[in-house]
Amino acid sequence: MINIAVFASGNGSNAVNIYNFFKNHPTISFKIIYCNNPTAGIISKAKNLNIECRVFNKNEWQNGIVKTELIDKKIDFVILAGFLWLVNSDIIKAFENRILNIHPSLLPNYGGKGMYGDKVHHAVIENKENESGITIHIVNDKYDEGKIVFQDKIRVETNETIEKLAAKIHELEYKNYPKVIENYILNYKIL
Ligand code: GAR
Repeated sequence: MINIAVFASGNGSNAVNIYNFFKNHPTISFKIIYCNNPTAGIISKAKNLNIECRVFNKNEWQNGIVKTELIDKKIDFVILAGFLWLVNSDIIKAFENRILNIHPSLLPNYGGKGMYGDKVHHAVIENKENESGITIHIVNDKYDEGKIVFQDKIRVETNETIEKLAAKIHELEYKNYPKVIENYILNYKIL
């Protein structure tokens, strides 16, 4: 089996969606959730679904403990799903081209430090954009700058609200992220 670990910082609806997609998968196994926020909604969701959920702190993230655990657990791919900390170069080196992230805009627009979740949708509406979307990309050591593997667009209506836009973007994420992860992993070739 090819093992994945999913990292989430908040509500974790994408993490749950990814779990449901892979739970009976013949070759890809959803092993564990890693969460950096002790008050995140994903923690109780994981408990209800009987998914192992490891809550970790900044020190464990920065001094290599999380990386060592991932290697010990034989994790092959790391999936970021609403995870808000920058991934340090140590982890990127250990999992080069094997970390994917999803971002709720059409990168390179509305990306970078501090651009996440509703803040992105707020900026898109403020700037009167007529389209937005999602970007799935390989993670490097800068926020939202790694190679793009998938994008999909939606229209932003003239009377759009943050809530409505966030809901549409989430639907797009649920529909696409698991399939893109599956496709990426099954076609992955060591460079
Ligand atoms: C998702 O929309 C994801 O794209 C976004 O956070 C949301 C998490 O929702 N990620 C970022 O903004 C990363 N910069 P969820 O916790 O319900 O999956």
